[in-house]
Amino acid sequence: MTILVTGGAGYIGSQMAYQLVDSGERVVVLDNLSTGFDWAIPPGVPAVVGDVGDARLLDALMAEHRVRAILHFAASVVVPESVADPLRYYRNNTVNSRSLIEAAVRGGVEHFIFSSTAAVYGEPSKIPVAEDAPPRPMSPYGSSKLMAEIMLRDAAQAHGFRYMILRYFNVAGADPRLRTGQSTRGATHLIKVAVETALGLRPKLEIFGTDYPTPDGTCIRDYIHVGDLAAAHSDALRYLRDGGESLTLNCGYGRGFSVLEVIDAVKRASGVDFRVDFAARRPGDPTRIVAAADKARALLGWQPRLGDLSTIVAHALAWERKRMALGSGQAHAG
Ligand code: UFG
Repeated sequence: MTILVTGGAGYIGSQMAYQLVDSGERVVVLDNLSTGFDWAIPPGVPAVVGDVGDARLLDALMAEHRVRAILHFAASVVVPESVADPLRYYRNNTVNSRSLIEAAVRGGVEHFIFSSTAAVYGEPSKIPVAEDAPPRPMSPYGSSKLMAEIMLRDAAQAHGFRYMILRYFNVAGADPRLRTGQSTRGATHLIKVAVETALGLRPKLEIFGTDYPTPDGTCIRDYIHVGDLAAAHSDALRYLRDGGESLTLNCGYGRGFSVLEVIDAVKRASGVDFRVDFAARRPGDPTRIVAAADKARALLGWQPRLGDLSTIVAHALAWERKRMALGSGQAHAG
């Protein structure tokens, strides 16, 4: 029984592939390497280079490896990019997910775990935001993921497989053993940008908006460690294998940090007082998103262990230093 990890060469997918291998699971990775890296795939894991939308490739791969569960990470994930190029997001995240779900049905897959996002909520009227809050995405990225959620629920209902939709909050940090981590070129995510600035890879960090209605005027997010996030998927898989019903769950800790608090944590961890400029608001940024986080703990038995902001930042920093030490922007497992 093999688990297919799409996007397994990417930041979160490769962390997941490592955790599955660590726990003795058989894994196959499908990734088109558009943003992922072949070195990020755990050694010994078979990897197929190709698209999630390629039906023939999927059929062959699922038959050859006898895939019974799919963890679907492959996606485009940058909110401002989705505003500029929405149709690419609807192709990569919605249309290709449809192809994958269809192939899963044809191939008799029993369990499907889908990487969704807090972006489906938009600007929630109530914080912390619970899973039953009305989805009101503010970007094509959020809409593209919400549409995939809807397809998955309908297909599961019609064809009898079970799913877990996990809505990620702000994922950060790196593999605690530093085998993989965030390596995307030109990353836009706050902790990654702050760490790169601390290490001199960028001249400065800009804060997008200091006039939000929050205590220090900057936006608040629920930052979740990528290792804890992968653990939630392992718990979800165990839950489904044990016969649990299909669910939609938040993956966050239920606490928020402002942009200024994050910058402060990175300055403290790195010992570098790097340059920070105040800039205009970034279009489409909600003021505050924090997860109602009790359901995943209660229903999956998820026990996050890496949730301190200082741990998240320390791991992000250690990963970036490792990348720099190895040179040429590459890192290697081991
Ligand atoms: N920010 C800055 N300067 C930067 C980068 C970010 O001030 O250089 C601010 C943003 O304006 C925002 C906060 O830091 O207020 C977090 O921004 P990120 O770009 O790190 O993350 P987002 O909250 O925009 O988006 C992330 C994921 C999405 C997910 C969303 C859900 O990237 O995939 O969280 O909350 F949908």
